[in-house]
Amino acid sequence: MYGNRNMAVNSEPPMEEPERQYYYIAKLQRHIEKESEKLGHILTASVITFGCQMNARDSEKLSGILECAGYRLTDSEEADLVIYNTCTVRDNANQRVYGRLGVLNGFKKKNPHMKIALCGCMMQEESAVEKIQKSYRFVDLIFGTHNIFKFAELLCTMLESNRPVIDIWENTDQIVEDLPVERKYPFKSGINIMFGCNNFCSYCIVPYVRGRERSREPKDILKEIETLAADGVIEIMLLGQNVNSYGKNLKNPISFAGLLKEAEKIEGIKRIRFMTSHPKDLSDELIQVMKESKKICRHLHLPLQSGSTRILQAMNRRYTKEQYLALAEKIRREIPDIAITTDIIVGFPGETMADVEETIDVVKKVQFDNAFTFIYSKRTGTPAASMPNQVPEDIVKEGFDKLLKTVQETAKKRVSLLEGQVLPALAEEVNTQDTSLITGRLSNNTIVHFPGDKTLIGKIVDVRLAECHGFYYLGEAVKMHDA
Ligand code: 5AD
Ligand code: SF4
Repeated sequence: MYGNRNMAVNSEPPMEEPERQYYYIAKLQRHIEKESEKLGHILTASVITFGCQMNARDSEKLSGILECAGYRLTDSEEADLVIYNTCTVRDNANQRVYGRLGVLNGFKKKNPHMKIALCGCMMQEESAVEKIQKSYRFVDLIFGTHNIFKFAELLCTMLESNRPVIDIWENTDQIVEDLPVERKYPFKSGINIMFGCNNFCSYCIVPYVRGRERSREPKDILKEIETLAADGVIEIMLLGQNVNSYGKNLKNPISFAGLLKEAEKIEGIKRIRFMTSHPKDLSDELIQVMKESKKICRHLHLPLQSGSTRILQAMNRRYTKEQYLALAEKIRREIPDIAITTDIIVGFPGETMADVEETIDVVKKVQFDNAFTFIYSKRTGTPAASMPNQVPEDIVKEGFDKLLKTVQETAKKRVSLLEGQVLPALAEEVNTQDTSLITGRLSNNTIVHFPGDKTLIGKIVDVRLAECHGFYYLGEAVKMHDA
């Protein structure tokens, strides 16, 4: 269905999408074929993902186009084309890209045909692009988050002109459907349900680099899920920066809970996950739909960010400590076997040890099953970057360590409640450290490693949860579910 080789590439490119990109894919196919013949091997390409699930999904789209164009995909960065899909949510993500670009330059010196491309959130930052143009002149292609659907066209232009191409858009309201995708896992897939964010939490760069909130039409989402199910996918993850506000701005508005109910009806799909929920928008309707569902996983990722109402206000989160606690309690009351995980930032401007204690208090009360703790990173252009009272490093470290200790203790206690139970796990991959083990995931997102071989991958297996090791289990397979 993808990539029409007979497309007339000598005529003018179509103006409509996605036809225009298929035209460029056809052009790329001819170019890659010729180059492969010249070099005596099929050209290779590698897509490297930094950052979140959104980026991982975008990378699958890039890979889909490359595969259609005739590249052989590889994990090695010594390839004929390497793309870094970048992240900029915290500064260490940017620093990693700069570090690895140095290594790529070494590969390029050995293989002068090599092309290097950069895309993703970091490219939406003017200062980053300026730095790359000045100090990393060996980069051949730069594009951003808003025009990722134009990848085939941009790559084709760069290859045919043999000159660097830079194309960054400030924003877009366009959503292009039906481009090729190459999934990393045959049995599970992410699905974008919305793009961008309108919340403007004061520390966060996402609304600036991903633009305003745009929801996809439910019919397009459901069609995509049906196609995935027909292709053997049993677990889907609905992706959005704030899924709880999904559908509000559509011509025919629909709630996120309404979308979930429709997704649930699709045959072949056994598990439904979603990310991320903003506490201020989490509805009772959603809790009810989750409670009644046989497919929606028993997991809610509900970023807290801080347990101090004063800091939450400065973060522009629009809920208080008490409101968060009440929400978590309601969710646990309605769905007792649910796992609640969270994100927490330490070191936001003006934060004191007393504020960190408030956060620790929430961690103890909610008993998160897992919490990702981050040190505040100043992002240029966000309101928090110019706030007074930036917290000194040593104070941040003290608060961070104390919080982390509490998180580990409470999570271990919570996760170990399942010890001895037999629960279904989706076998995802062979364990990278011990290849006699398979790594599986419970409905509540807890990881369990158990003896088994790769024939189990993609299947749901009943696993006895023998030993709790903090955030994960060692177990043994008891029974396989019917396919
Ligand atoms: N500094 C530290 N952590 C941040 N996050 C977002 N912006 C920043 C920042 N400037 C964290 C939040 C968010 C997660 C994806 O990243 O906790 O939920
Ligand atoms: Fe960033 Fe807040 Fe939007 Fe999440 S909800 S992406 S933290 S602005």
